[in-house]
Amino acid sequence: MDLHLAGKTALITGASRGIGLAIAGSLAAEGCRVAICARGTEALEKAAEDLGSQGAEVLAIAADVTQSAGAADVVDRTVRAFGGVDILVGNVGGNRRGRFEETSDDDWEAVLDLNLRGHVRVARACLPVMRKGGEGAITFISSIFGREAGGPGLSLYNSTKSALISLAKILALELAGDGIRVNSVAPGSIRFPGGSWDKRCNEDPEGMARFVETNLPMGRFGLAGEVADVVTFLSSPRASWINGACVNVDGLQSRSLI
Ligand SMILES: NC(=O)c1ccc[n+]([C@@H]2O[C@H](COP(=O)([O-])OP(=O)(O)OC[C@H]3O[C@@H](n4cnc5c(N)ncnc54)[C@H](OP(=O)(O)O)[C@@H]3O)[C@@H](O)[C@H]2O)c1
Repeated sequence: MDLHLAGKTALITGASRGIGLAIAGSLAAEGCRVAICARGTEALEKAAEDLGSQGAEVLAIAADVTQSAGAADVVDRTVRAFGGVDILVGNVGGNRRGRFEETSDDDWEAVLDLNLRGHVRVARACLPVMRKGGEGAITFISSIFGREAGGPGLSLYNSTKSALISLAKILALELAGDGIRVNSVAPGSIRFPGGSWDKRCNEDPEGMARFVETNLPMGRFGLAGEVADVVTFLSSPRASWINGACVNVDGLQSRSLI
């Protein structure tokens, strides 16, 4: 299937490693020019080098998207280098685990900035550019724990990831007449070298083997590439009738019927 992505420009936030980097690789393999951003320059440059060596046209932008200036900068620099933005993937995200009563205002500000406000700012800056191009696709990376309860200690993560799914739906409604589709993706537990699940597996192999047995019906963690390819499809005109959706990519990990 030709995804008709050749020559498109994709901006992927948080793409120096893990799921974001896999998404950049998957979009680049379909012929997209990719702009990637992250705060740390070393991993970012290495990621750009790796993508470039596979033939991709890559722009690496060191920026913190939780800051207004950083969010504006990633969009500005992408437009200056590539002339527009056709595809936005809001991948940045993270967690501060702790029981609700122990969470501070600072925790809430930080996780809201990371999991919601950063996406708001980057998407808002992209919209005039996408409108000018006459089309666009935005995908936010949420989590299955934005769709259903993850459990005690996850108030920050769960509520901000749910908010991101809501944001995608409302944005999709507002932009439905403008040729810009907005979806979200809800990964389950994804393991990649150096990622959070990989660290936990290395620190506690027996505990994590029990976790897999109890929580992952297919008997393994998901792979970053398995999320990436779904995002690439959603970003393509082939997914023209998928709008405002939240797509699970979780190997049956989540239990919700909706
Ligand atoms: N891994 C999983 O099992 C899983 C499951 C469900 C959902 N997700 C979601 O999927 C997304 C990616 O997860 P991941 O595990 O691949 O994450 P990760 O390993 O923590 O990578 C995050 C990426 O974002 C960058 N980043 C972090 N904060 C940033 C900021 N403020 N501004 C710009 N870049 C920033 C990081 O680089 P720097 O640190 O150098 O900035 C890195 O490139 C997240 O939204 C996560 O919540 C992951």
